[in-house]
Order: sequence, then C-alpha cells, then structure tokens
Amino acid sequence: MCSKGLFLERQQLDFKGQHIISIRDLKKKELLKIIDCASQMDAEAPGDLLKGKILATLFFEPSTRTRLSFESAMNRLGGNNVGFSDPKSSSAQKGESLSDTIEMVNGYADVIVIRHPIEGSARFASMGSKIPIINAGDGANQHPTQTLLDLYTIEETQSKILSQEKETLKIGMVGDLKYGRTVHSLTIALSMFKCEFYFIAPEILKMPEDYVNIATESHCKVHQLKELEEIIPDLDILYSTRIQAERFFDKNEYNSVKNAYVLKTDMFKNVKDNFKILHPLPRIEEIDKAVDQLDCAYYFKQATNGIPVRQAILSLALGAIS
Ligand code: CP
Repeated sequence: MCSKGLFLERQQLDFKGQHIISIRDLKKKELLKIIDCASQMDAEAPGDLLKGKILATLFFEPSTRTRLSFESAMNRLGGNNVGFSDPKSSSAQKGESLSDTIEMVNGYADVIVIRHPIEGSARFASMGSKIPIINAGDGANQHPTQTLLDLYTIEETQSKILSQEKETLKIGMVGDLKYGRTVHSLTIALSMFKCEFYFIAPEILKMPEDYVNIATESHCKVHQLKELEEIIPDLDILYSTRIQAERFFDKNEYNSVKNAYVLKTDMFKNVKDNFKILHPLPRIEEIDKAVDQLDCAYYFKQATNGIPVRQAILSLALGAIS
C-alpha cells in the first residue's frame, strides 16, 4: 500500500528483515518513509496485512504505551502476540542470558520488540537474531519508535514542516535531558531537518554534550537555558519530560530537581496558533492536570499516534509493505 503513495517519488527503501535499534541507523528519507506509511495507515484501516505473523514483546522494564500500542497495532493488522511484561515471570529470573532468550524467541515469533534497562542491550540482542529486533527503549540510550511517533505528531500538527522544510521548527525540550532517552533520539532525528533547539534543564540534568554536538554539527541553532517561561511564545513545540526517579542513584539529588519545571495553564496565554505541548508520558507532576484542557495540550493524541506508526514499522519490518 505505501508504495502507491508519496514514496513513488522517493527512492524505494527496503526495511524487510531490518532491525530498528537506534535512530542513528535511519536516514532522513527513511524517517519520512515511515511517517508517510503511518499517515496512510491512519487515513485508511490497512486490514489483515500481518495475518499469521507473531510479535514477541519482551519487556524487562515497565511500560504502558509502548507495549500496548505495539500489541494493539499487531492485533489490528490481523497478527498475534506473545511475550512478557515482567521479567520476573520469565526465565531471566532463573538466570537465563539475554542471548539464549533471543535464540529461543526466534523460534516462536516473526519479530521481537524489546525494552531493557541496560544501554546497548537491544543492539546486543540484534546480533544473535535472525528475525527483526525493534528497540522499545534501552536504559537512558534510545527509544527510536517513540521518536518516530513524535516526528509523526510534529508533521501532523506543524503543516508538514518536516517533509516540506519550508520553515525552521522551533522546539523546546524541558526536564530530564540527561537521562531522557526520548529527547536523545528526538534530537538526533530532528538534527536531520531544519530545526532550532531550546534545551531547558537544571545543571545536573543538562543535555549531554554528544547530543548538543550532533545538533550543532548539523547546523541547527542550540540554546541551553535554565528558565522556561520567557521562551514559550517563540516555540512551535514544547516537549516536556518526566524527571525519572529510577535513573538517580542519590534520592536527595532527585528531590532537588523533581519539580523544577511544572507546566501550568497561565504559562500558555501567549503562544503561537500552531503551538503544541508534547510529552512521551507517563507524566507525574510536570504537567498540571488543568493544562489537559488547553487546545495546545497534545500529549494524549501523540500517544495514540503510536498505533499507526507502530503498524507501519511492523508492516515494513515484516515485508508486508515496501
Ligand atoms: N512513552 C513511553 O515509552 O511510555 P511507556 O513507558 O508507558 O511505554
């Protein structure tokens, strides 16, 4: 189906059998292809494209959106799911290695989605897998499918700013920029487009230098700030993130920053018409519940976009579309 759409004008790309481990592995045209495919799937139910195929979801860390939206995407395409959401219920609890687990699941499924707390674990898993491995988050490193749905949401709300590149996207990222894998992946991806970054964080949660360098070396302007409110009127997107208690060794350090940036309705009185607040979710206290009622609050729709985007990823990886 996707090959009948906008892609005819682009080079045909083959995702069949490919792992999706890091956004660094994808080129701009591949990002745009996945967005295009997702858009077509959103517009028209694609039917039983993956009938007879099995997805294994191996979640060694908690998840609501990523696991359920992958499973829902698979079900909606006529496929089936196996897997676990708690490693204590798997033989990892008895000491089975990740490589043995992947070897076994290669015999039970056609594609694997994995979330694991150790950085690099998805890449390691892919090395011993004959079926596609999709990284659903490896520690503080990468969360590429979240980034794809973030890009899809930005394209959807900003008049095709990514595919047309007529204007520069001004995006603020606020909160935990040090450990936040979603903002790391998103910075890499948006650096391929016309983008101006505003990184807003306390000193101890600043965006790591590696990611700042990726943006600047790609000729994107970068501003590093501690104050949020005064730049909101300039932004197209504000990407809020949770301060992640589970990534801190020192609880006192966590307590010192946990409420550093709490979004409240009165901060959004003077925003651009196209302005949207995004958040990968879950949110804890960083977005006041009252903000949910504002037109610019888009984070729940953003999470729903996980369905067409993950339908596109699964269909491409399994060769059901090209
Ligand atoms: N955005 C995201 O990864 O959410 P979950 O942790 O619920 O999967």
